[in-house]
Amino acid sequence: MLRIFTLCLFWLALAAGSVARAGEPPVAMLKLTDEDVWVPGQGSYAAEFNRWAWLNFGAPIAPEELAMAGLSAGTATTFSRSREAFSAPISTLDQDRLRAFALGRKLFRVRWSGRSTVQDGFDGLGPTFNRNSCSGCHLKDGRGQPPATVDKPMESMLVRLSVPGKSAHGGPLPHPVYGGQLQDKGIVGVPREGRVTIEYREITGSFADGEPFSLRQPVYAFGDLQHGPVGADVLVSPRVAPAIYGLGLLEAVEQATIEANADPDDADSDGISGRVNRVWDPVSGQQAIGRFGWKANTPNLYTQVAAAAHGDMGLTTSVFPQENCPAAQAACAETHITDAPELDDARLATLVLYTRSLGVPAKRDVHDPATHRGAEIFDDIGCAACHTPTLSTGSDPALPELTNITIQPYTNLLLHDMGEGLADGRPDYAASGREWRTPPLWGIGLVHRVNMHNNFLHDGRARGLMEAVLWHGGEAQVARDTVIELSSSDRDALLAFLASL
Ligand code: HEC
Ligand code: HEC
Repeated sequence: MLRIFTLCLFWLALAAGSVARAGEPPVAMLKLTDEDVWVPGQGSYAAEFNRWAWLNFGAPIAPEELAMAGLSAGTATTFSRSREAFSAPISTLDQDRLRAFALGRKLFRVRWSGRSTVQDGFDGLGPTFNRNSCSGCHLKDGRGQPPATVDKPMESMLVRLSVPGKSAHGGPLPHPVYGGQLQDKGIVGVPREGRVTIEYREITGSFADGEPFSLRQPVYAFGDLQHGPVGADVLVSPRVAPAIYGLGLLEAVEQATIEANADPDDADSDGISGRVNRVWDPVSGQQAIGRFGWKANTPNLYTQVAAAAHGDMGLTTSVFPQENCPAAQAACAETHITDAPELDDARLATLVLYTRSLGVPAKRDVHDPATHRGAEIFDDIGCAACHTPTLSTGSDPALPELTNITIQPYTNLLLHDMGEGLADGRPDYAASGREWRTPPLWGIGLVHRVNMHNNFLHDGRARGLMEAVLWHGGEAQVARDTVIELSSSDRDALLAFLASL
């Protein structure tokens, strides 16, 4: 059966004239449309086909490399380094869930429209929104970036807003006129709220060996505000869309594991604390530990996806049933037509399953001596104190396929004070204006290939991995200062290691 599948794929690849040349991913072969993936009534065949395409093509990782790799995520590791590297489902996914995955992929990629202009049920966008599809921001399940120039709109990032104080559940207090997020688009007849532009100030410095570097500090400005000025006390947090692969595994790490790594009062005096965020979960109606978002500001993928649908696209759900129209925005409120959720529970669950079941690409070039040396440096100079190399998932995750897996995410999922340079000054539940959640580093070496850019950190200001490291301050100041002292070959080794993840 397997052989037949593989043969079929070869035949199809040949027919499409897109068999991989050495070192070049067969992109054409992998460009399956949503229709290819989701054929009603034949979903499992199409999805099965797609799974094999993902696993077996696209510059797969060589067996000898794999043998030494240490899998990024055990049985949830995927083996492509093509532009589709972030888009493959966990290969052990059960047939029914694989079928749901294919539908979830469609929901994630489809462009939603404003009221009832289409017949297929993908309407309900807005009244105000940031983007008309999830994948518009999380392109190819990867990460977003800031606009290339000051006059271009934000296409894969958004700006959170609040005013000083806390909401009833301890979260940020939404801005009275613009709400918790600036929506820079509106459906026909509804004005956008406004927009934010970014200009950069260059800051120069040099490594101990004299090699110069330059960092760009973003300066944000509001423009085109439709409901008056935001006021002097507004708190602003611009954030790019993070990648969404491997999230089911991070959700499956037990709370006790995360708490065990926390050291809120720095009891071991290593200069690194690490705090758990505690947030409100509207689904359970209780406090929960935060895991997702740049400040660990949402508790789980169900709430996260419902919040994204609501805040970023204006799709109501049973979790957030009201349209996102602050009282001052009359045209927004007047478009309200139906009380039924625009994304019903079944579709919401399918979308959540999708974000739970994307696997993690295997490491590459692990036997390269520079990668080896880089891994040692990463450990020695304290990067691993926050970017924890190894964690385990628990025994009772949302999907049985995620049970008891040893993963290498390079995050502790904890909040750290990263200093004034990175601070947004906007608290988010227990996270202060200087704290950010350690982001996972797995797959980070493939961002340039999948997303065709090299922008890192919460607002995409870093133009490469070294710039991202050089912005580290606060609890990571010592590690950053040690990087400044490294020889140029050790710096290259550290970068080679990051690129191998
Ligand atoms: C306008 C761009 C944009 C759109 C559209 C968008 N997102 Fe996001 N997404 C973001 C940003 C920015 C974050 C980080 C939010 C934060 O830190 O508060 C995020 C975070 C997430 C996360 C958590 C990732 C992590 O590593 O913590 C998931 C899951 C997610 N989004 C899913 C979705 C889904 C599903 C949709 C469609 C319903 C969607 N997003 C639409 C920008 C977007
Ligand atoms: C005190 C904890 C801590 C230490 C130590 C630390 N980091 Fe980080 N790292 C973070 C946090 C938190 C962020 C996110 C900051 C932001 O986006 O503003 C981050 C971001 C990054 C990023 C960008 C990730 C992304 O998704 O954009 C890279 C790369 C990185 N760190 C590498 C390193 C390396 C290499 C070292 C060692 C020199 C190191 N870090 C030490 C906490 C830490």
